[in-house]
Amino acid sequence: MSHYPGQEAKRVTTHTLQEMKQAGEPISMLTAYDYSLARIVDESGVDVILVGDSASNVMAGHETTLPITLDQMIYHASSVIRAVKRALVVVDLPFGSYQGNSKEALNSAIRIMKESGGHAVKIEGGEEITESIKRILTAGIPVMGHLGLTPQSIYKFGTYAVRAKEDVEAEKLLSDAKALQEAGCFALVLEKIPNKLAAKVAKTLDIPVIGIGAGGGIDGQVLVLHDMLGINKDFSPRFLRRYLNLYDSISGAIQHYIKDVKTRDFPNKKEQY
Ligand code: KIV
Repeated sequence: MSHYPGQEAKRVTTHTLQEMKQAGEPISMLTAYDYSLARIVDESGVDVILVGDSASNVMAGHETTLPITLDQMIYHASSVIRAVKRALVVVDLPFGSYQGNSKEALNSAIRIMKESGGHAVKIEGGEEITESIKRILTAGIPVMGHLGLTPQSIYKFGTYAVRAKEDVEAEKLLSDAKALQEAGCFALVLEKIPNKLAAKVAKTLDIPVIGIGAGGGIDGQVLVLHDMLGINKDFSPRFLRRYLNLYDSISGAIQHYIKDVKTRDFPNKKEQY
């Protein structure tokens, strides 16, 4: 299903994504964390907006995704929801909001849906979280899975390097992916794994598989908005394609403004009352 400017926006649902997989139409997904950028992302026609816990890095400046809280995720998600008319909005359950037990996971997911108006939640992990996924689903909340490099476990991995390069980890990932589908996930994110393994997962599963650093042989792609717009200068993994160099554009505009203020060029006669 495509978006054409000027046409009435038809909401993307989890069913739309399933149809896109069946039709072989790639799914586009981007992150957003605030009203103004979410509005641009949605009106540009992206299929899925992820209110990612990467907000912890790009919005709050933390080194990892661990510090962001459920309240903060709800704040970001409600800002995004107010802007979005078409895309499916998926909200990350943050670290510490679901690992305790399935009841805690359900309560956190309910808070996100009730207080932000999000359309679905995303949760990191494999077989060990299937009980929580099933419990969240009992409340009618769609769940997206996330395997491969799962940033909430960074202190277990030790690095942000490519995951599942060895056979044992690759087999575990495939079996986790099947377990997530079996548990009822409507889609799966695969982060930073070899493209052959990702393609095998996408071929094996019936649900859409969306990748970041997982190659082109899958059902869709996701990037962090600030990375693809070039707002972050210092993050350049191999998988990232930068569509803009916004850091330099914004910095150039600010320097221009400072110069205009210092030289009293701004405001001019037309720019005052
Ligand atoms: O939080 C996030 O931005 C994510 C994407 C990297 C998939 O989980």
